Amino acid sequence: MRQATVTISREALQHNLNRVKQLAPDSKIVSMVKANAYGHGLENCLSALTQSDAFGVACLDEAIEIRQLGFNQLVTLIEGVFSEDEMQIAIDNKFECMLHHQQQLDWVRKYKNQYQAKGLKVWVKLNSGMNRLGFKVPEIIDIINTLKAEGFECVLAMHFANADADDHPMNEQQKQQFLQVREACAPVLSSCCNSAAIMKWPELHFDYVRPGIMLYGATPFDHRPVAELGLQPVMTFSAGIMALNKIHTGEKVGYGSTFVAQKDMEIAIVSIGYGDGYPRAYIEQNYVVVNGQTVPLVGRVSMDMMAIDVTGLNVTIDTPVELWGTQRLVDDVAKANGTIGYELLCRLSKRPTRQVI
Ligand SMILES: Cc1ncc(COP(=O)(O)O)c(C=O)c1O
Repeated sequence: MRQATVTISREALQHNLNRVKQLAPDSKIVSMVKANAYGHGLENCLSALTQSDAFGVACLDEAIEIRQLGFNQLVTLIEGVFSEDEMQIAIDNKFECMLHHQQQLDWVRKYKNQYQAKGLKVWVKLNSGMNRLGFKVPEIIDIINTLKAEGFECVLAMHFANADADDHPMNEQQKQQFLQVREACAPVLSSCCNSAAIMKWPELHFDYVRPGIMLYGATPFDHRPVAELGLQPVMTFSAGIMALNKIHTGEKVGYGSTFVAQKDMEIAIVSIGYGDGYPRAYIEQNYVVVNGQTVPLVGRVSMDMMAIDVTGLNVTIDTPVELWGTQRLVDDVAKANGTIGYELLCRLSKRPTRQVI
């Protein structure tokens, strides 16, 4: 059987959730499980995250999947509903909605009695400079105060554009705007921390924190590895050796014949490619782990396989290869490929088999 496996560690997930609790003991936790739990598989992850106060998703379909899997926790639609007909479904299923544009305000008001009868809060998004979603100051102050007067329980919400960066001037600007609105709408429930902000700004944890990447044991930061953050990688992506070739100096490997052997070598072909979600374009030297040793990739990654240099190593057909996991961090593979761990995790394809340990 072709070896291409994604293994999810429930223990690591629980460890990381506990780490969030340790960092933000007084806040409720909205565990972000959008994009199929950051590529880890919703079903695999929810049961390890039941100690969360709510789950955060990007759209109604993702929220419905949570219910279909039998989980009754509160769900927050962090982008709200996309059309009026979704509002009724959201209410029926007890999904709390983010409001970030006027139409969403109109829809929630139209369904006000039902919405409030279910005890659902409205999350109102501040656009404090990221300029993706939300209402700006001072409009948002008026919106929240009016919603409160209409009987809605509101959560003031905001998302940092640069929480991962150390000294970005936008951080202070966004913080100040958030605090200003919070004060002008007091008392109001508040939420502005993603993973990086949870780890950096305890004074901003407030009522709800919204951890994503840290739950999965990858880092939001460029220069702070997961071990330093007290997190454990949840996913191990592995494959096996499917062919071994001895090549001579001057021989080439793979599409485009980009790799030319500078010495006699032994090349192993590994059963994984970009069709599984492994990135094709490595711009720096990239590695996998075989028998506990880092081993460089050679030539281009193709759809179903890649080549690695196993010269002098004791390997055979079926020897396991870790593409990323506890020995080779997804963050490091991402860096070698000019991207971020988030992207590599989310874009895994359906093909690798999934298992939970
Ligand atoms: C609104 C919102 N909150 C929280 C998060 C979680 O962010 P992170 O994965 O960096 O913790 C996201 C992720 O994109 C988000 O969009």
